[in-house]
Amino acid sequence: MNAPATHQGLPGQPHIAYAGDQLMVEGVRLSDLAHKYGTPLFVYSKAAMLSALGAYQRGFAGRKAQICYAMKANSGLAVLQVFAEAGCGFDIVSGGELARVLAAGGDPAKVIFSGVGKTRTEMKQALQVGIGCFNVESEAELDVLSDVASGLGMTAPVSLRVNPNVDPKTHPYISTGLKGNKFGIAHEDTLRAYRHATSLPGLKVVGIDCHIGSQITDATPYLDAMDRVLDLVAEIEAAGIPIHHIDFGGGLGINYNGDTPPEADALWAQLLAKLDARGYGQRQLMIEPGRSLVGNAGVCLTEVLYLKPGEQKNFCIIDAAMNDLPRPAMYQAFHHIVPVTPRPGEGSLYDVVGPVCESGDWIGRDRQLLVRPGDTLAVLSAGAYCMSMASNYNTRGRAAEILVDGTKAHLIRQRESAFDTFALEQLVG
Ligand code: LLP
Repeated sequence: MNAPATHQGLPGQPHIAYAGDQLMVEGVRLSDLAHKYGTPLFVYSKAAMLSALGAYQRGFAGRKAQICYAMKANSGLAVLQVFAEAGCGFDIVSGGELARVLAAGGDPAKVIFSGVGKTRTEMKQALQVGIGCFNVESEAELDVLSDVASGLGMTAPVSLRVNPNVDPKTHPYISTGLKGNKFGIAHEDTLRAYRHATSLPGLKVVGIDCHIGSQITDATPYLDAMDRVLDLVAEIEAAGIPIHHIDFGGGLGINYNGDTPPEADALWAQLLAKLDARGYGQRQLMIEPGRSLVGNAGVCLTEVLYLKPGEQKNFCIIDAAMNDLPRPAMYQAFHHIVPVTPRPGEGSLYDVVGPVCESGDWIGRDRQLLVRPGDTLAVLSAGAYCMSMASNYNTRGRAAEILVDGTKAHLIRQRESAFDTFALEQLVG
C-alpha cells in the first residue's frame, strides 16, 4: 500500500512524515532505528514538542502565564529536560513525579502538585524542596496539609481545585469536571472551603484551579468552565480572600483520527478575550497541558510477527501489546498504524493485535495493511499516555525510547530486560 495522503505528515505535525518510501522522524529514518535498537521502540521528535509548546507560548505572549507540563502524559527524564530547558514548570501528581522533575533539572518553584490522594510523606517532600503550589482537592486534605506544613514550621501555598460541573464531551474515563467525578470541590462548597483554608495556620491561599477533562476538541467547555471559575473568583474575593493566580488545567485534545481540536494559540485567543472582557486579563495565569504537548510528537515502532488469516477476521500479530500501548484496551482509543516502508499494492483488512494473553489486547481493528512478517509498523500519536502507562504484564520488559533532534537519535531509555522486571523480587528464604 502506498503511504496514504493523510500520512504525508500528521496534520499540524510536519516532523513525522514520509520522505519517499521512508517514514521519518525529523531527519532520521525509522527503519534504521528499528534495525539498530529493536522493537517495540518509542521515538519522539524534540522539534514537535517544542512546536506544540510554541503554540501555547505564542498564545500567552504579553501575559503573565506559567505553562506547567502535566508530566503524567510522558514522564521520561529527557522529555522533562526538553520542557524544563524551554522554561516550563510541571504539574505533578506524586512524589515519584517530583523526584523525576528534580532529576531532570526542573525548577521546583514552578511545580504544582495536583491529585486527590496526596500522602503526608509526599506533602513533606514537596514542601521541603519548595514547590510553587499545592492544588488541593478536598477540605480534609486542607487539614492534613496545614498540619504537615505547621510541623515543618512552614506555610504551604495552596490553590483549591474547583469542579465547574461542565461536560467536556470526551470519553467518560477521562472526563473529570462533572458532579459525579472524584475530582475537585463542588461549586457550591467552594467559598466554605476557601474560608476553611484561610482559617488554618499552615496554609496560604494563592490561587484557584480547575481541570475538566482530557482530549477536549471544542472550545465551548473551556469557555463555560472559565465563566464558572471567574464567578467563583468574584465571590471569593468579595469575601476578602485574594486570588493571586487562576489555573485552567489541561485537557486540549490532539488529532488522532481526523479530530479537529483548536490550536493552543487559537483556543487561548478566545479564552483571553473572555478574561479581558471580565477584567481578569492581567492576572497570573497557569495551565497544565499534557497530551497536546507530546501526543503527536511520538510514534511506537513494532515488528509484524505473524499474519493469521481467519474465517471472520485476519489478524496481524505484532510485537507491541497492551502493556506498551494501553489506550485502545482502556478507552477503545484509535491510533493510526502505518508501515514504516510501505509496499506497493492494496493489502487486506486486519485486526492488529499483540502477544498478550487477553482478547482486549488489540491495537487497531479493521485496518487496511499490506504487510509481511518482519515488516516494521509505526503506531502514530503515541507520545502521550503510552509509555507512561506501560506495564510489565505478561513479564514483558518495557520498550526502549529514542529522542530525535534533527539528524541525531538519542537513546533516552534502554529496553527493560526480563531480569529488570523481577529485580526487586526475592524467593522465600
Ligand atoms: N491537570 C490535571 C489535574 C489532570 O488530571 C490532567 C490529566 C492534566 C492536567 C493533563 O491533561 P491533558 O492535557 O493531558 O489532557 N490516560 C488518559 C488521559 C488521562 C488524563 C488524566 N489527567 C488517556 O490516555 O487518554
